[in-house]
Parts: sequence; structure tokens; C-alpha cells
Amino acid sequence: MYIATAGDGHTASAASATSLPSSPASAIPPRPAQHWWRDAVIYQVYVRSFLDSTGDGIGDLAGVRTGLPYLRKLGVDGIWLSPFYPSPQHDHGYDVADYRNVDPVYGDLAEFDLLVADAHRLGLKVLLDIVPNHCSSDHPWFRAALEDVPGGPSRALFHFADGRGDNGELPPNNWRAMFGGPAWSRIKEADGTDGQWYLHMFTPEQPDLNWRNPAVPADFDKVLRFWLDRGVDGFRIDVAAGLYKHPELPDSPDPTADERTRDSVNPLAWNQPEVHQVWRDWRALCEEYTARDGNDRLLVGEVSVRTPSEQAAYVRPDELHQAFFFHLLTARWDVDVFRKVISEALTDIAATGSTVTWVLNNHDQVRTVTRYASGPHGEGGGVGPARARAAALLMLALPGAAYVYQGEELGLPEVVDLPDEVLTDPIFHRTGSRQHIRDGCRVPLPWSGHASPFGFTQGTDAARPWLPQPEWFAEHATDRALTDTRSFWHLYREGLHLRRSLPQLGEGALRWLDTPPQVLAFVRGDGLVCAVNFGTEPVPAPVPGSPLLASGDCPAGTLPGSTAAWWMHAADPGTDLR
Ligand code: NOJ
Repeated sequence: MYIATAGDGHTASAASATSLPSSPASAIPPRPAQHWWRDAVIYQVYVRSFLDSTGDGIGDLAGVRTGLPYLRKLGVDGIWLSPFYPSPQHDHGYDVADYRNVDPVYGDLAEFDLLVADAHRLGLKVLLDIVPNHCSSDHPWFRAALEDVPGGPSRALFHFADGRGDNGELPPNNWRAMFGGPAWSRIKEADGTDGQWYLHMFTPEQPDLNWRNPAVPADFDKVLRFWLDRGVDGFRIDVAAGLYKHPELPDSPDPTADERTRDSVNPLAWNQPEVHQVWRDWRALCEEYTARDGNDRLLVGEVSVRTPSEQAAYVRPDELHQAFFFHLLTARWDVDVFRKVISEALTDIAATGSTVTWVLNNHDQVRTVTRYASGPHGEGGGVGPARARAAALLMLALPGAAYVYQGEELGLPEVVDLPDEVLTDPIFHRTGSRQHIRDGCRVPLPWSGHASPFGFTQGTDAARPWLPQPEWFAEHATDRALTDTRSFWHLYREGLHLRRSLPQLGEGALRWLDTPPQVLAFVRGDGLVCAVNFGTEPVPAPVPGSPLLASGDCPAGTLPGSTAAWWMHAADPGTDLR
């Protein structure tokens, strides 16, 4: 039973709409071992900012362990851990120096094993973040490459090339790095002379690996086995449309495109056909583990390509299980845009036999509360929070899987006014511009209390959190969210629990309803109706009766602006809203 606060219309008695099973946490049905991922909801843990158990101001694996019951209560199916491997942290762990260990800042392998055991005891899957496109310039392979001679075997693990110009003083081609500046850096040879150049599509501290060298895939095979043998349930794959570059490394016709858009658009550097064989090999490796115990292991790719149909190629039955559908995340708050991207996803991705993997937030993007706001700041009311709540209910009603980024369930806005001197994002340091910087969505979570560190970091002598938390984080602290039935947290929790208990949600068909302008509505299964009003004026609700769950107040028979709601409707609501 979903408790209705008298007269608030936020959440209504399920019994008024249809007779539904109640869904206390203890009654959540267990996930099937096979295909569990097809409609799973995974919570992204940005380890550095989740919970700090040691008092050094940086989140860690023991902190994640402490938070697992909270996530279980929320109702997610598993967690994806951002990279925690040894790393000089030039890009917060996406510069890996050792793929088979834990950075001491985050813990150690023993702590990792405890975390996996606890998660599994609570019925939560564990996904790791694997970074195959590039490693750290501190990785032993790259150190050896620097000491090697041009053309030597260690250099062949990367993209080393002679420069152009009379003295090799110009980079081998005109490519620019995603995070600003040329995609090539020149090294000093062992004798101190200016030497060859190496390719890095992100920062100079992240040299790109040469996947045409068989030693690279062979080593990643070992890396995957290392973690699968420790019990992980799968991997989120960084830059999954990367890895291979055009074999000739020719000039790009539009060299600044990646840097300008901060998107993977250089057609010579991304989305090369050879990459698909890697995903076939990794899928076969996962199947090998599944064959042992019946539990699917999951590969979810960060596949940044231009169109849903290009993305669909990555989730063919023998490749990745999932690829984040970023077109929903990048959609502006507009009913037609949302309808178009959802329709395209369902047509193109579902045709592969996979399910769509919806996502609204992650550690690289401005948080929805702020992104959907009409003003510069999403915090403290306004339309941003209402739209973010509505988008969450929409996402959770769509067929397929979904990912929730930590703090999304608290309605955290972006911290947009961090001073320059605390910013750590290499994008800021390489471009000198605050555009596209990502620190604002990575500020450590508020757990309790009224002042920083808001329970994020433990102990009286605790260091300050690695990024400063604003005072207004108090409004979003977990302790407050748990006791306020109107909080984001309760909306997510109720949505997640309904997904688990209602057969209409998760996988299955979606049927669009004809709607007035500004409204998007569809039916799932045999009668779950979801409607979102993208406009500002109330419209009639699509079906009579109280909603099962709504993102905001729904006075009788209406769906107000910037609001989404779910109804159960035994009769076919037809193709028209009332
Ligand atoms: C995508 C990751 O999400 C981002 O955080 C990282 O900076 C780049 N890949 C490079 O690894």
C-alpha cells in the first residue's frame, strides 16, 4: 500500500485504482539469474563522493559497504562502482595505473571482497568500471614505452609516431583531444633529444592503447577474469566506441569537433568497425562464466555515437548486453524531443533483441534538477526539481533497464558556483573554461546534519570533503529525505518498488496514447498508464481515479504542468485522453 498524505495527491492508495500487491522491501521478488539485467535498475556509485569511512575527505570502498543497506532499501538491483584502481587521479581514476588492484585511497582487495560479499548478501549486483581505451601514463607499460626505442615492442602497445615538419616538431596528425589541446604529446627520448609523439584522446596522462597489438586484448582478458573470479557481476565499459583508430591515422576534416562538442564525433578516432570483435570476445567470456552457474554477467557500454541506429550495432545479441541511451539524457525538456528519442530507442535498440538502457544523470553531466531549470540555478525550488521528478517517473515507466546516479534520488542540484581554485576536472585545467566542467555533479553526498561534511566523512578530526559542499546541501541530506514522504527519495523508492511488483513495468510493450500538445502518455502491459505534462498548464488526467504514484500534487482528475503520474486502469484507455 502506498501511503497517501491526506489531500496531497502525491501518492494515493493503490486500492483506489486497482487491487495491487503491497511491496514492502522484504517482499521484493528475487531477480531471475538469467536476463536479470534486461529491466534492472543500477545505481551508479561515484566512490570518491559516496561515503568516507577513513576521515581523509575522500569516499572509499568501506564507505560504499556502509551504504549498501540504504541502497537495498531504495530498491535498486545493483551498483556500478566508478574506477577505484591505483591511479594518479588525473581524471579521477579514468587513468588506471594497475587494472588488478585497489588504490590505497579507496581501500584494498580485502575490503573489495567484503563489499562484494555484502552486496550479494543483500541481493545487489556489483558492476566495475573498466577503462580499455587508455591507461595512465604511470602504467608500467607506458613507463616502459618511454624507455623503449622508436619502433620497439613497448612503444607498439600505444600509438607512437614520428612528428611531421623538418624536425618532427609537428604532431603526426591534426586531431584534437576531447578534453582540449592537441591529441598528441611529444616525448624526450632516452638521450634527451626531442622524440616521437604519442596519441591521447583525453589528457596527456591518459595514453591511448593500441588495440591492434594482440598483447592489449590478451591482457584485458586477464583483467576481466581477475575480477569475475572475485565475484563481480559485470562491467561498465568506458569509451566503448573507442579502442580502435583509423589504421593510417589520417588528418581529420574537422579536427576541433570533439573538443568543441565534447562528444565523440571524429570519424577517424571513434566507432571503427574493428571494435565490435572486442565486444564479441568479451561477451563470449561472460557467457563462459554464465555457463558455470547460470548467472548472467553484464556488459554495459558507454557508447557515444551519433544515432540510435549506430548504437544498436553495439548491442547485437553477441556483443554488449546494454549501452547507455544518452539521447534521453541529452534531450531538452520538450515533449516532441522526448517522444522522438524514446520512439527511436524502442525501434532501433529493441530490434536487436536487447532492451533500452535509460539514463538521465551520471558523473559527467549537469544534474537534471539544474539542467531542466529555466534559470541558471536549479536549487531551492523552481521548475527544475518538478521536471526532474517527472523525468524520473517517466524513465522508470519505460521498457528496459535504467541507471540512477548517486544523489539523483535526493534531488541534488548541480553545484554551479564552485570557485576555480577547487576545481579538479582536467577539462577546466586544459581548456581554462568552465563550460562542460564536471566537478559540480561530483560534490560529496550529504547524509545527515546541517553543516558540511553532512555525515559524508567520519570522525572529529576529519579532513574537509575533497570538494566543498554548499550550505544548502542540508535541504537534501539523506536523513531528511528519508523522513519526508514528499522527498525525491520516496518518489524513487516507490517507483522502484512498484517496478519490481508490477508485471506491467520493466520489459514489455509500450503503446503511445494520443494526447493534447505538451503531454506524452503511454500504456504499459494491460493497463499501467504513464503520462507526463511537459507544459505549464494543467490538463485532464488520462484516466479517472487517483494516480498510483505521481511526481507532484495531482488535484482530482488533472495532471498539472511539469508533472508525471502513473495510473492503473483496468479498462483500455483507448487512444485518447479524456
Ligand atoms: C568517460 C568517463 O565517464 C569520464 O568520466 C572520463 O573522463 C572519460 N570517459 C575518459 O576516460
